[in-house]
Formats: sequence, structure tokens, C-alpha cells
Amino acid sequence: MTADFQSWASDRQARIETFLESRLPKTDCVPERLHDAMRYSVLGGGKRVRPLLAFAAGELASADIERVTVTAAAVELIHAYSLVHDDLPCMDDDVLRRGKPTCHKAFDEATALLTGDSLQTLAFELLAEKCLADAPETQLIMITQLARASGSRGMAGGQAFDLASVGKTLSLPELEFMHIHKTGALIRAAVMLGARCSCHLDESQLERLDHFAKSVGLAFQVVDDLLDTEATTETLGKTAGKDADNNKPTYVSILGISQARELATRLQSEADQVLDSFGESAVRLRQVTDFIVKRKF
Ligand code: IPE
Ligand code: IPE
Ligand code: MG
Ligand code: MG
Ligand code: MG
Repeated sequence: MTADFQSWASDRQARIETFLESRLPKTDCVPERLHDAMRYSVLGGGKRVRPLLAFAAGELASADIERVTVTAAAVELIHAYSLVHDDLPCMDDDVLRRGKPTCHKAFDEATALLTGDSLQTLAFELLAEKCLADAPETQLIMITQLARASGSRGMAGGQAFDLASVGKTLSLPELEFMHIHKTGALIRAAVMLGARCSCHLDESQLERLDHFAKSVGLAFQVVDDLLDTEATTETLGKTAGKDADNNKPTYVSILGISQARELATRLQSEADQVLDSFGESAVRLRQVTDFIVKRKF
């Protein structure tokens, strides 16, 4: 990671943290325990990869950074909600997340359920309340796109497929379907919503950006599967080896470590190639992609 990218990413991560901190309800506001759990699950942790992608796509499109900040925060809230629910005993049954006890461990299951619900609705509140695009119609497209990416034809659908696949050996197309939905859809939304904060890209450019985002979204989950076997609980801040313990089909269980690693590299090249036509304006997207594929946590 270059020093230049490191400083760009730290600046955007700090920006998103400050914004989320200001918009999450305070803990002295009733119901205090729920608000405490929401702040616990969102603040002070996570790589903020989806916001970084939204900022990078926003820069490619010369979008206003204030608009992108709100948009990126909305996507991160959906992501944080998905993690709280993913860790519940009825799903992956995890006790550690972002180096801390999972929400249902630090609070209780009902609070974790409501925390997810409340983070999800806060995301849409943010996306609807301010002018975030040049035309109101574009902002409606952004809201629809985030709703689709989060729901049964996106992340939640992918999670359903994931749970239904426990103990099964999936074919590669089935595995790809699962990953594209449970993780890819929200990553795709992060990129597209960031770009839509400006009207500078035409339809064919948006289509190319979407192609890029699809490859990155899949690469992200391939690497997540790899890290589950290759990294330690300490560096991950979540329980390593959990996929094998839970009998989940993953790119590692189906392809093995070295072929899964090759696939991640191939997806990165594909993503980079799509960006060629954008020239220098895509530099941040390339750097975030490189971070996603080479990360150690
Ligand atoms: C983990 O996502 C869950 C998946 C979708 C694979 P991240 O690796 O982005 O988690 P944080 O936000 O950095 O904790
Ligand atoms: C989670 O995938 C995807 C979502 C939360 C939507 P994983 O179950 O692999 O994520 P981790 O490994 O627990 O972070
Ligand atoms: Mg899961
Ligand atoms: Mg999990
Ligand atoms: Mg995982």
C-alpha cells in the first residue's frame, strides 16, 4: 500500500467515522440500550471498504464529497446491520466481530435483531433526507438500487442461499451466485451510488463501472473465504476457521487455496482492465481494489 493511498484512505475513513458518529442516535436518548448497541456495532471498527469504494467512484465522477459521505455512510450502515445479523446464533453463531464481542454477546439477541433493523432504516433515512444527486430522479434510483442490493434479490437473498447451503457441495456457478448476492451486491451498490452523486458519467460509463464493481464484489468474498482459512483470529478480529466449523461451502473448500488465490488475482486483472478506459481518474478505484485483494484482515 503506497503512502499516498494510505493517507487518502485514512482521511476518508476518518470522514465517515465523524459523519456516522454525528448521525447515530446518542446513548442518552431513549431507548438508550438500543442506541448504545447501534453505536457499538458501527463505530470504531471495520475497514470501511464499501465507503472507500464509494469515495473512489465519486472521485472518478467528480462528485461532491459531502454528498458521497452521506451516501457512503448509508451503505456502511447496511453492511454493519448485515454483520450484526450474520453473527446471530441462528446464522453463523459468532462471538467475535471487529475485535470485540458480537452485538448479541455484548447485549442480547433481541437487541441485536433490533439493532440490525434500526441500522437498516437509518441508512434509508440518510439516503432520502438531503439532496444527494443532481436530479431527484437519480436520487430515487440510488434509493432503489440500495434497497435491491440489500433485499431478497441481493444481500439477504445471498444470506438465505448461504444458510441453505450448509453441508452441501456447491457447483462453481452456484457458489458464484451465492457470493455475488451475499457480498457482491452491496459492494456494487457502493460503487454505483458513489458515482451517481454526480451526473458526469454517461450510461455506457456507468455500465462499465458496474462491470468493474461486479468483479471486485466477487473478489472481495473470495478473499474473505481465503482469510478465514489463512489468517488468525487475532489479525482478523473475528473467529478464524469458522467456515469449515460451520460446514460452509466456500471458494477454498471447492477450489482449494491456490486456485482460490488465482481467481482473486484474475478478478483483480479483469476489474483493472475495465477501468482502463477511465485513465487516471480511476486511480483510487484501482488502489482500493488492490487493497481488497491483498489485504491480510
Ligand atoms: C465482512 O466484511 C463480511 C463480508 C461481507 C465478507 P468486511 O471484511 O468488510 O468487514 P469489516 O467491515 O471490515 O469489519
Ligand atoms: C457475510 O459473509 C456476508 C454478510 C454479512 C452479508 P461471512 O459470513 O463470510 O462474513 P464473516 O466472515 O462472518 O465476516
Ligand atoms: Mg455468513
Ligand atoms: Mg459470518
Ligand atoms: Mg467469511
